[in-house]
Amino acid sequence: MSDTGAGYTPSAKYASVYAPCVDRIFEEERRKHKNARDCERAVRNRLYQITGAYAPSGSAARIFERGMDERLDSLRGVDNYASALEWCAHFLAAHASTRERLPVLKAFYDYIGDICAGARIVADYGCGVNPFALPLWRRSDMIRYDAYDVDTRSIGYANALFRRIGLPEAAQASDLAVETPPAASDAALLLKLLPVLDMQRDGRGIQLLREIQSPVKIVSFPLSGLSGTNRARRIDGTAARFERVAMEAGIAIRESRRIWSEMVYVI
Ligand SMILES: C[S@@+](CC[C@H](N)C(=O)[O-])C[C@H]1O[C@@H](n2cnc3c(N)ncnc32)[C@H](O)[C@@H]1O
Repeated sequence: MSDTGAGYTPSAKYASVYAPCVDRIFEEERRKHKNARDCERAVRNRLYQITGAYAPSGSAARIFERGMDERLDSLRGVDNYASALEWCAHFLAAHASTRERLPVLKAFYDYIGDICAGARIVADYGCGVNPFALPLWRRSDMIRYDAYDVDTRSIGYANALFRRIGLPEAAQASDLAVETPPAASDAALLLKLLPVLDMQRDGRGIQLLREIQSPVKIVSFPLSGLSGTNRARRIDGTAARFERVAMEAGIAIRESRRIWSEMVYVI
């Protein structure tokens, strides 16, 4: 990682993080640290926390990408639910967040599909590789799927998928900690995103939730962390905190459901 003066160049591991997000984090850390090495370490830690912990990188990403075209082509041969499950699971396993849903893919995405039934435009904020679940729940009336993430690799994967399944290439890089995409949707997904945004800017999760234009918003929280029981307890606390904060902010939770290790709220 080096500070070139004209901008900040992250190490290869974080080269796919949306540049304005890297610049923002660098600026925030530069204000906190006098020592360049401390600053660099802090930037790396934060990039790991917000995205590096989830997405494949380095050789894992190369292996994932190598077979991608062939795998995408093989979707043509998927003609029943069992083979769709298998096809989707391959992609969803590549990202730590969707990987946690593997034991309950059917239950989870049946629920998402029911809530989003009739939506022509769906938006997925902090999407990761979640668009690769679409073959499990996409209804025929969906005409566009807007997917946003700071990880430009995930954005590239999503657009490759959209090309194959006849949707517009509507995935785009965005730093949701500081910007709210203006496009409206019929249903919006913010799956396991709010704690990650709050880590970057206190209160940003609820703010984004209020700002996005969609009559239906699905928000979820992990109930078990990526590792460790203390972390799990802390994350359990964020779902409970969300219920309190949402109530105080006048955000009406229409329904909630625990599915495996995830708490899902429909707003
Ligand atoms: C816990 S994962 C959730 C992924 C997906 N929504 C799911 O449920 O499987 C959080 C995602 O948010 C993305 N992310 C983190 N900070 C972000 C930001 N400032 N703007 C946009 N996306 C961000 C990460 O890259 C990661 O893909």
